[in-house]
Amino acid sequence: MFKQIVLLGALAVSGAALADESKVHLKDGAGKDVVLAKCTICHSPDYISMNSVFQDKKGWEGTVNKMVKVMGAPVNEQEFSQIVDYLTKYYGKE
Ligand code: HEC
Repeated sequence: MFKQIVLLGALAVSGAALADESKVHLKDGAGKDVVLAKCTICHSPDYISMNSVFQDKKGWEGTVNKMVKVMGAPVNEQEFSQIVDYLTKYYGKE
């Protein structure tokens, strides 16, 4: 007798690499483009919404200033005020 063993290797390749698309949650409004362009270079915009409860205009000025001076965010004077206005309006505490 001759036994033949047939191996059926059914290999289910389930390598669906889920693209980790970081969703952008920022509210629509004047200045959003600038914020998206400048403030998502190093971290997700979630940093902004997570901090929104705490900051008034002075607070956001301080944060953006820190991002520019300490972290090195490439923001010019015009963009600086656009960003602060946007953040104060949409993510500021009155
Ligand atoms: C050059 C890189 C870089 C850019 C550009 C940048 N950030 Fe940040 N940001 C950081 C780093 C690094 C931290 C974490 C700092 C820490 O933990 O102290 C941070 C933290 C934050 C936080 C958390 C609170 C805090 O003060 O640490 C907020 C809010 C924030 N960034 C907002 C912004 C905004 C708004 C912009 C656009 C003007 C911006 N970031 C652009 C690097 C950057």
